[in-house]
Amino acid sequence: MNDYAISLETRDGKTFAFHSNPQESLLEAALRQDILLPANCRSGSCGSCVARVDSGLVQLTEVSSSVLDDAQRAQGQVLLCRSYAESDVRLIAPYPSDKVRLQQIIVRKATIDRLEPLAQDTVGLWLQLQPHDALGAGAEFEPGQYMELRVPGTDQWRPFSIASIPNWDGALQFIITLRPDGLLSNHLRQQAQVGQTLEVRGPFGEFNLQETGRARWFIAGGSGLAPELSMLRRMADWGDDTPARLYFGARHDTSLFLLDELDALKQQLPGLAVHPCVSRPGPQWPEPARNIVEAFRADLAQAARKPDVYVCGSDRLVAGIRDAARQAGLPDPQLFGESFGAMT
Ligand SMILES: Cc1cc2nc3c(=O)[nH]c(=O)nc-3n(C[C@H](O)[C@H](O)[C@H](O)COP(=O)(O)OP(=O)(O)OC[C@H]3O[C@@H](n4cnc5c(N)ncnc54)[C@H](O)[C@@H]3O)c2cc1C
Ligand code: FES
Repeated sequence: MNDYAISLETRDGKTFAFHSNPQESLLEAALRQDILLPANCRSGSCGSCVARVDSGLVQLTEVSSSVLDDAQRAQGQVLLCRSYAESDVRLIAPYPSDKVRLQQIIVRKATIDRLEPLAQDTVGLWLQLQPHDALGAGAEFEPGQYMELRVPGTDQWRPFSIASIPNWDGALQFIITLRPDGLLSNHLRQQAQVGQTLEVRGPFGEFNLQETGRARWFIAGGSGLAPELSMLRRMADWGDDTPARLYFGARHDTSLFLLDELDALKQQLPGLAVHPCVSRPGPQWPEPARNIVEAFRADLAQAARKPDVYVCGSDRLVAGIRDAARQAGLPDPQLFGESFGAMT
């Protein structure tokens, strides 16, 4: 297999060198060599991994035109999570070198503790990390971050946000939407059992709670609840009484989950309001149909002080909330988003 030499120069003139083969994205190749480049979605939809090709050949696969338009592509800009080397490549990054972390990515083994349906096509996965010589027994991360799970028997990794909070026991909870024909989804549907071992690596990501003194509005679509649940659980754990509200959306009421737990969180967080939004409710749902973006838009228009907004879910949800927030005059630095991909 070809092995190409890649160099990436940051804004302050520092160069990071690594190798890549045509089967791995440039982002993945750097990660394999313990170079963590800025990246959020890893799926071509957030733009955080952008760089310019200064020389060499790169194949760019599908990316959202809202992130990289034709003019940017004509200038040689690429998204590293969607770029594959076809020769030696020299890249110029728009960020300074302190945004690049040199960190050994340690793969840990974890035992499946529980695997349970939460709603249609959504499961809860509870893992117990096995103690690690260097890292000990605990699960250390920032609420909002994600881990990658290896699809057993392959070299494929899939990112999943952690729904639990950091702890010394090594417990991790995930909320996973099962994708039709998904590699990891099929493993969870057909083979995974309590007691089996999975491999995990991380944590990664910068979707974290910010201490700004402003109210926090959380917008979650389906399993996009996971990182926000971790943040809310952290707020409850620390007795953080910042006013907060959660808009939790799904198309059908049968796709919502953990509503009892959210009710219990309200007891611990008196400043928390929870707004389930179901766009096509069944006859049992006690409330009218509500589109999550429109509910957010209407409430934001009424808000005397603009809150910090955290949104997590499909590309479409994140884009819809971003548009509504901008139209309402919310400054961009008050919007924090994590996209899971092009969910329908
Ligand atoms: C930072 C980050 C955090 C994430 N956290 C979570 C999480 O907490 N819970 C969760 O359920 N998902 C999460 N995701 C999305 C998840 O990683 C993907 O859905 C993953 O591809 C599923 O793996 P799979 O092997 O089952 O499916 P794959 O084999 O990767 O894909 C199978 C099929 O499903 C399609 N597909 C995959 N993902 C999506 C998607 N998001 N929308 C629409 N179609 C899709 C693919 O295009 C393909 O056709 C996260 C993604 C990112 C980037
Ligand atoms: S990490 Fe590449 S576009 Fe989001």
